[in-house]
Amino acid sequence: MHSPRSHTAQVVGYYDAHPINEDQILRALSERGLDLDRITQDDLQTLDQDHYGGLEANDALISAAGIRPGHLVLDVCSGMGGPSRYVAHRIGCRVVGLDLTPSRYESAQRLTKRVGLDHLVSFRLGSALDMPFEDASFDVIMGQEAWCHVPEKPRLIAECARVLRPGGVIAFTDILRKAGLTESEMDRLRAEMTFPELGTLDGYAALLEEQGCRVERRDDLSAEWTRILVDRLAMYRGLGRETARKFGEGRSKDWDAYYTFFVGLYEAGKLGGGRFVARKGGD
Ligand SMILES: C[S@@+](CC[C@H](N)C(=O)[O-])C[C@H]1O[C@@H](n2cnc3c(N)ncnc32)[C@H](O)[C@@H]1O
Repeated sequence: MHSPRSHTAQVVGYYDAHPINEDQILRALSERGLDLDRITQDDLQTLDQDHYGGLEANDALISAAGIRPGHLVLDVCSGMGGPSRYVAHRIGCRVVGLDLTPSRYESAQRLTKRVGLDHLVSFRLGSALDMPFEDASFDVIMGQEAWCHVPEKPRLIAECARVLRPGGVIAFTDILRKAGLTESEMDRLRAEMTFPELGTLDGYAALLEEQGCRVERRDDLSAEWTRILVDRLAMYRGLGRETARKFGEGRSKDWDAYYTFFVGLYEAGKLGGGRFVARKGGD
């Protein structure tokens, strides 16, 4: 078993040396000939989404959750804030992003300021297991491909339900384990991808119901994600030289090995993906 402290340090280290990062995004924008002092949300949003399916996946969550202009949305594990900015910009609502990695939190703030969305989007540094928010503070909770890093899924879902107002919606996607994943494969995912434990379609649905949230949708995204992940591995290989320059040859090689193993588990049907939409009772 992991201790919570060492797991947090492991996640922070993983994201401090992630091939997708603020420098890499700014470099890509510069290479497109853009003046970095004048970039807009439309420029940035094609590069700052660290989940599967890009902006279409955000649109699917927005419509599944029914996010509207008056809503206050919490993005749990917001990373560099790509989805938070997208939702705020598209809908005109306010979004708060929560993340525990200081480098991600700082990048999120800088990128948001750079595109002039800081009047709608703000960030908090903190853990999804101990959220720095009052009960019933938010209309919608969202999350994408991040809760896989969070241990104690019952406590995570309980925290989400606590800070959600009655009648509010939790809408998220996540990496899931499927039948056939062995314990030694899970050990590798724990060590290499910092996934302490993985949810399942039934497991997350049961946790949501236990917290008084009626599950309105649970979509199996496994086939779609397997196709996306094969392309994503190619994208990371394209970034290999830049990753080596920034974090060293060893990190670039390790990343390639980790991701190849991870994508292989999708191709073998041992990992999958799910989208969940649940409404808190008591409205
Ligand atoms: C794959 S990124 C997802 C970012 C974002 N959802 C997106 O789509 O661009 C995962 C993020 O989860 C954060 N994270 C992991 N465990 C966390 C926890 N217990 N509490 C808060 N954030 C956490 C990491 O720091 C990282 O920034």
